[in-house]
Amino acid sequence: MRKPIIFGNWKMNKTNAEALEFVNGVDAHVTDKADFGVAVPFTALDTSIKAANNLKIAAQNVHFEENGAYTGEISVPMLKELNTEWVVLGHSERRQYFNETDADVQKKAKVSLEAGIIPIVCVGETLFEFEADKTESVIRKQVSGCLSGLDGEDVAKLVIAYEPVWAIGTGKSATSEIAQNSCAIVRDEVRNLFGDDVANKVRVQYGGSVKPDNIEEYMSQEDIDGALIGGASLEVESFKAIIDAIK
Ligand code: 13P
Repeated sequence: MRKPIIFGNWKMNKTNAEALEFVNGVDAHVTDKADFGVAVPFTALDTSIKAANNLKIAAQNVHFEENGAYTGEISVPMLKELNTEWVVLGHSERRQYFNETDADVQKKAKVSLEAGIIPIVCVGETLFEFEADKTESVIRKQVSGCLSGLDGEDVAKLVIAYEPVWAIGTGKSATSEIAQNSCAIVRDEVRNLFGDDVANKVRVQYGGSVKPDNIEEYMSQEDIDGALIGGASLEVESFKAIIDAIK
């Protein structure tokens, strides 16, 4: 049985003080029905990690080098010093605005796993690719580009978030059938690369306009083990409603 995993992704939202207010408002509400967490800005990591007893706290990116002349970047040792245990990698906004590639994600995943930080690796097609019927080939290429070369035992521990770009922040969520179909393709590509055992263990999330009132429908799908949630993870009440929806 794969344990459900529900993460919020705050993106570039919340100051340190706002993050603390959220963690204090949600932490006691967290249940053991899933791994519940939020990916916070770097500036809110230390405070959030210290304040959270139940909620898991993720970074939203990391650089693959340990140190050096990379102005504005953050390394694995810097995350480790704050006891960071999770990191979101390859989000479509990083691919789109910061030119991140599958090869970058692969390097970032490798150094994170070596340090015991669990990556949430994001994949998903654009609207153009979706309309051109390229979803399957895009997902397979991203999964293999991000994960090939990693150790199978490590891949079994990580999380893959399928987020169709056309459903992110648009209010246009994918139907549960489309989401299930794509998450099954993600798992099948992991099977091709690492075999049945790893494919059966890896957790796959759906992301894209997930809300308290549609999360149950996604979670009832065979290959969907969780959700990565943007907008609906920003408010305490909305995140609590998401926690309540996982029974
Ligand atoms: P929304 O839930 O706001 O569509 O964002 C999804 C997302 O990008 C999570 O990483």
